[in-house]
Amino acid sequence: MAPTILVLNGPNLNILGTREPDVYGHETMAEIEAACAKRASALGLTVEFRQSNSEGELVDWVQGARNGYAGLIVNAGAYTHTSVALLDALLACDVPVIEVHLSNIFQRDDFRHHSYVSKAARGLICGFGGFGYEMALDAAARMLGTTRE
Ligand code: DQA
Repeated sequence: MAPTILVLNGPNLNILGTREPDVYGHETMAEIEAACAKRASALGLTVEFRQSNSEGELVDWVQGARNGYAGLIVNAGAYTHTSVALLDALLACDVPVIEVHLSNIFQRDDFRHHSYVSKAARGLICGFGGFGYEMALDAAARMLGTTRE
């Protein structure tokens, strides 16, 4: 069976498509998920997408990732810049973590330049919109050895 990558999305990412499209683009989360499912299957992976506006729910999901998931792709939204609780969960999860942001956080407000998630992540992809999730899947496939691409 193909290894499964859990893709976790934080607050306000459920309203992608209409949320500040000049910053985040017009693509919806459902469209990003569909593109990722297609890319994952070409890479010998499967994906499971989740989104929550609640910090505690995201922490619960990260804690559960060790049960059955080969990797974690995380766009923690604003919790990226605030949540030590999420960092602690990611440090303890024993699953490789790849951090993704739609926007280039380093071109934006100063408070977005620091990421707690980065301390637990193998790498960070930002600034490529929804395509960044597909790039993260490519990285996961390389790390897990499911592709030679
Ligand atoms: C974001 C960047 C964060 O600073 C912001 O709070 C988000 C989205 C991104 O994907 O670009 O909610 O994570």
